[in-house]
Amino acid sequence: MGSNVPHIPVLLAEVITGLQVRPGGLYVDGTVGAGGHAIGILEASAPDGRLLGLDVDPQAIQISRRRLDHFGERVILVRASYVSMETQLDVLGLGHADGVLLDLGLSSMQLETPERGFSFQETGPLDMRFDPDATRKAAELVNTLPEDELADLIYQYGEEPRSRRIARAIVAARPIRTTTELAEIVSQVVRRHKIHPATQTFQALRVTVNEELKRLREGLSAAIEALEPGGRLAVISYHSLEDRIVKRFFARESQDCICPPEALICECGHQATVEIVTRKPVRPSSREVTRNPRSRSARLRIAAKLDVGGED
Ligand SMILES: C[S@@+](CC[C@H](N)C(=O)[O-])C[C@H]1O[C@@H](n2cnc3c(N)ncnc32)[C@H](O)[C@@H]1O
Repeated sequence: MGSNVPHIPVLLAEVITGLQVRPGGLYVDGTVGAGGHAIGILEASAPDGRLLGLDVDPQAIQISRRRLDHFGERVILVRASYVSMETQLDVLGLGHADGVLLDLGLSSMQLETPERGFSFQETGPLDMRFDPDATRKAAELVNTLPEDELADLIYQYGEEPRSRRIARAIVAARPIRTTTELAEIVSQVVRRHKIHPATQTFQALRVTVNEELKRLREGLSAAIEALEPGGRLAVISYHSLEDRIVKRFFARESQDCICPPEALICECGHQATVEIVTRKPVRPSSREVTRNPRSRSARLRIAAKLDVGGED
């Protein structure tokens, strides 16, 4: 965790503009991490905007507490999942939010701490938990899943076309203890040019360990519930599985009827809850990618909550 800036926030200006951050507003940063976006939101909402920051990782809460300390009572930090944001707002008596941010994926601090087991560059245990109190580590998946289940997982959550070959090599090499051991085993059976051969396998394990896609679906619904009408939800995703979920959620929630196309009359009774603000995802500029290579796969989507039933 050596550097002075623990994590560079991605698409910061675009998030602040997209959330329409203003003085007096109430914002939820559901993935507060090192507090980079939170600092931007608090500065843009000065002098009296407030922010509730959530993270499941106690180290992230500790770091952001230190970095956000000077904002005093304008900030509340809670170690909790963004899935519970409505409950957190309720318990704290804060009411509904004017903006919610979900910046998915992992932080540089997590990636650069070998003991957390996220990196294939440095040796560490096969852990990969965002929440260190969660019970299942990557080692359990790697060393105990049947070969076909492991292959399915790597294919589905890593979008890795060589999943069967990788699963076979993993099973043959068990028990596997460290991140670099696993990366080496994958590298022996897969060749890649632009990315490390183990990138997609590591992604699949991390997504599974943290149930990231399930949490994301739940978090998107929770965010809509937590918002004031007119309030905005901004989501930054880092791979196509996440982005597809956000895109489909926004598409579905922006429609009044979601009956199958062959239905003659609407039977679903679904009412649109959001309006899509970004038809196409916002991508980082080449300047940002040069300054912060980790931003290269980022896609930002924004939606505004509608005033459903507000005209009655
Ligand atoms: C990309 S980092 C956020 C960085 C942050 N925006 C910043 O500028 O420093 C993502 C964070 O989300 C956290 N996280 C992952 N799943 C979570 C969940 N279900 N609820 C809350 N936080 C979560 C991770 O622990 C990590 O700290």
